[in-house]
Amino acid sequence: MATILEEYIAKHSGSAQRYAEATRIFPGGVTHDNRYAQPFPLYLTHGAGSRKWDVDGNEYIDYVSGHGALLLGHSHPAVVAAVAEQVARGTHLGACTDEELRWARAIQALMPSIEKVRFHSSGTEATLMAMRLARAYTGKNKVIKLQDHFHGWHDYAMAGSDRPAPGIPPESWGSMVILPSGDLKAVEDTLNRDSDIAALILEPTGAHYGQLPFDTPNYLRGLRELTSQRGVVLIFDEVVTGFRASPGGAQVLYDVAPDLTTMAKIVAGALPGGAVGGKAEIVDMIAHRGDPEWDNRNRVYHPGTFNGNPLSAVAGAVCLEMIASQPINQQADARAARLKRGLNDVLGKMEVAGHAHGIASMIHLVLADCDCDRELCRMSHREIKEAIGAPAVTALKRSMQNNGVDIMGRDSFLVSATHTEEDIDQTLAAVEKSLAAVRAEGLV
Ligand SMILES: Cc1ncc(COP(=O)(O)O)c(C=O)c1O
Repeated sequence: MATILEEYIAKHSGSAQRYAEATRIFPGGVTHDNRYAQPFPLYLTHGAGSRKWDVDGNEYIDYVSGHGALLLGHSHPAVVAAVAEQVARGTHLGACTDEELRWARAIQALMPSIEKVRFHSSGTEATLMAMRLARAYTGKNKVIKLQDHFHGWHDYAMAGSDRPAPGIPPESWGSMVILPSGDLKAVEDTLNRDSDIAALILEPTGAHYGQLPFDTPNYLRGLRELTSQRGVVLIFDEVVTGFRASPGGAQVLYDVAPDLTTMAKIVAGALPGGAVGGKAEIVDMIAHRGDPEWDNRNRVYHPGTFNGNPLSAVAGAVCLEMIASQPINQQADARAARLKRGLNDVLGKMEVAGHAHGIASMIHLVLADCDCDRELCRMSHREIKEAIGAPAVTALKRSMQNNGVDIMGRDSFLVSATHTEEDIDQTLAAVEKSLAAVRAEGLV
């Protein structure tokens, strides 16, 4: 019988061929670090709804979901129509548009904390701007970031990540304070000790959209209280959780309003785009103040060729308006609940140590036992990271790809409103088959 790796190579010869060329063109052969895979990554041609296809004609049930952007699935007809119409009307008018107003209104309708907003081209830009706004508003320099929380790849966002950081001047990390995730006392002690803290930024459901959860909502409420007492700007990075944890994001789900929110992915209808929004007096640090237009000494400067570009604006507006008016989140959440139950059943039936946990449409599979409520895993973050780093997980991901299921990273299923019950049941059968293959290799 072929090994998992042999089957992967045999099934994906077209991807292997393309990767051979790609290694001569792209560093590491890829255009996004997370797409790097050994012996080669998959080359995809197109997607529709919950499905996508590779260059060898293999079909996948997709849980990468555009890195979380595709709450409406691939190529939703309403988004396709809106973007196609806008392409014909102009991709860049070099001016203000009705479309950007419509986009902003759609965000405000779902997230009450967004008094004012500014658009960007990505989540990385949004978190960079949020930190700058907080520093400008408070006149303070430091930002608290939580261990393992991901906020993109700019210099400040990379502080405290578990990745090495060549190319980042150590001075830029001098203004970042890294604290353990989920530890209110650590935040309180730091705020008591250091009067130069401008902001605290976090992923509100835990690092990597809940892969490493904490005791939400108590932790969020505690942070809100501590930061409000001291005039520290609380930033929720809702790049993934925004419009997914609930129609209004994690902040509405847990009823904790941050001062600033960063958004990307779903906010732009799965086109490139990002936004930072929140309290008017903070976002207004970007506003012109009666100075000559070339004089930026009293304000936060913010150009950006593709800010509020009309394609992202119409895709975002259509997507958010659908979320507001249709049971999009309920549908995705119901499928995710079926998937989570099924994954736990399969693991139990096969007597493989492991469990699935998560909230809304973000499900995480951990090959280690835990007695948690399957919403917020209670294993230590170190234990979860160890479990996710195991060779069995690499083999399982590859085997699932052999069996027509593609997951986000090493452990995550990001479910869309277009996943059907049949998709979920087919996924569970594929997971069972894949676990059997991993077991046959002696890894679980
Ligand atoms: C929570 C979070 N913040 C920020 C980012 C960066 O967004 P982008 O990839 O659009 O720069 C990501 C990307 O995955 C993210 O998950």
